[in-house]
Amino acid sequence: MRTIRKVEQEKKRFLPLLLLGDEQEDMIDRYLERGTLYVMEIDRAAAAVAVVTRETPEVYELKNIAVAPKFQRTGLGRAMIAHVWADCGGEGKSLLAGTGEAPRTMAFYENCGFALSHRVENFFTEHYDHPIVEEGVTLRDMVYWVKR
Ligand SMILES: CC(C)(COP(=O)(O)OP(=O)(O)OC[C@H]1O[C@@H](n2cnc3c(N)ncnc32)[C@H](O)[C@@H]1OP(=O)(O)O)[C@@H](O)C(=O)NCCC(=O)NCCS
Repeated sequence: MRTIRKVEQEKKRFLPLLLLGDEQEDMIDRYLERGTLYVMEIDRAAAAVAVVTRETPEVYELKNIAVAPKFQRTGLGRAMIAHVWADCGGEGKSLLAGTGEAPRTMAFYENCGFALSHRVENFFTEHYDHPIVEEGVTLRDMVYWVKR
């Protein structure tokens, strides 16, 4: 059985999954406590996570999303986005997501109904203590997607 719940206690239990979405722990620490942690479980085992912060009364931001490797590309990421949007979205609301420019990540957000919004130059090179490489691409700028 598949369920999604909000977890408020001991969020760091889900660090292995959170590190798939954002590989540097001290960067996760910047949003995990203030964010809402959604955990998707399949037969009671964690299969996917998402962390969403409220940046203004109308603007939410997806800070982290990750699906356990054995479940990737089976629709769980898209289902998690749909759940988050049902929880936070609505009239006048928007959901931002900042990512690197790796092709599969871009394909995922596009497929989930996000549109390109803006970019923050050099975010990855300035804020992470080591180069972040995804799909062979060394990430530099943070690209923001928006869902309205
Ligand atoms: C990115 C991630 C969250 C996507 O979740 P997922 O459950 O694997 O993706 P879904 O099965 O819901 O895919 C939805 C759509 O996104 C696109 N997509 C997802 N993964 C893709 C891939 N590897 N290559 C190309 N397109 C992809 C496809 O359009 C897909 O639709 P389709 O399968 O009908 O073609 C997941 O793969 C993951 O956790 N990756 C590692 C962590 C990460 O990179 N997090 C995001 C950083 S911002």
